[in-house]
Amino acid sequence: MHLTEEEKKMLESDNPAVRKAMKLLVKLGDIYGAEEMVEINSAQASGVSYKSIGDPGLKFLQEFADEGAEVSVPTFANPAGMDLERWEEMDISKEFAEKQNEIIEAMKGMNITIASSCTPYLWSNLPGRNEHVAWAESSAVSFANSVIGARTNREGGPSALAAAITGRTPKHGLHLDKNRNPTHVVEVEADLKNISDFGALGSWVGKKVEDGKPYFVGVTSAGTDELKSLGAAMAASGAVALYFVEGVTVDQRDVSDLERLSFTEGEKEDEYLKLTASEEPELVVFGCPHCSINEIEEISKKLEGRTVTKDLWVFTSKAVKAWSDRMGYTDVIEEAGGKVLSDTCNVVCPIEDMKYESMGTNSGKAANYLPGFCKQDVMFADTTELIDKVVE
Ligand code: F3S
Repeated sequence: MHLTEEEKKMLESDNPAVRKAMKLLVKLGDIYGAEEMVEINSAQASGVSYKSIGDPGLKFLQEFADEGAEVSVPTFANPAGMDLERWEEMDISKEFAEKQNEIIEAMKGMNITIASSCTPYLWSNLPGRNEHVAWAESSAVSFANSVIGARTNREGGPSALAAAITGRTPKHGLHLDKNRNPTHVVEVEADLKNISDFGALGSWVGKKVEDGKPYFVGVTSAGTDELKSLGAAMAASGAVALYFVEGVTVDQRDVSDLERLSFTEGEKEDEYLKLTASEEPELVVFGCPHCSINEIEEISKKLEGRTVTKDLWVFTSKAVKAWSDRMGYTDVIEEAGGKVLSDTCNVVCPIEDMKYESMGTNSGKAANYLPGFCKQDVMFADTTELIDKVVE
């Protein structure tokens, strides 16, 4: 693998963390057949939740921090395992909270911004088209590649951190033009009315194309919330990191040679059924990926003047929560009996250790992950139906 003089110097750096990071990237580059490194403009650090990384991950981060690791490009942390301020209200144990805070301190020590969110592109870290970045959370990776047109592979926790420290990542996979072409055409015949319909489509397609690059035709309109829902679901049920929506994310392309799939009303209904194992959720969650301000506004309007009889949690970033507070949406949701939580999410908080066994979600990604990762029976439905389930 060709290295520049500066990159060679990093391999010999006096700073052990820089040495270690560059060594790791060279090793990965060799494994993936990269010919060179590419400079990146931002990174996203995953493996923030204590539930996901446990003591070995915490030790890894602390060692890196103690060795003098510091990120050299803007780097944002993914969700943690709890709301960093309201963790007691989530029934998080003191032991878990202490470990989680140690992770946060180690990351802060490396100058990683504790954004604790999977949607940094909604309020701060918005790369440009064709900009190279090293992001790690699968829905954010999908959004960056597909909607923004930036370039990133799906990094693991250590490789994203190494990229953040050196400002480099091996140039392979989705950093290269030759790997950014569609592999399947998906004809969307079903009517997509809301973000959960986009999640159902994503969940169905991800299983069919696995790590392919689907090209959607027939989607007449899709905004940021619909696209983040679609991409997140495909990255969860499959490993899609790049997709195209004709007329929305790209102009028309010649895709006449590609395998074609059709997503009909029947397939849509079937996907809802497949992702639903319970009709009686004890907890309804929104915000996978983290809610935008528009989604929170919609939830608050639906809850205005009503009373939640079970539990209802809305997950978002701290940044969007601040807007929600200011707009009075948080008050409306909390006066109804719900909670607006930040820094964490329905999958990476230790929900399986709480009192819940069944959850309702409007997210195709969460519906795929909650049964295995959080031991929950899921009700997958749209926002209105879920709210009607848990309010008077
Ligand atoms: Fe984000 Fe957590 Fe869902 S990281 S995409 S809210 S599983």
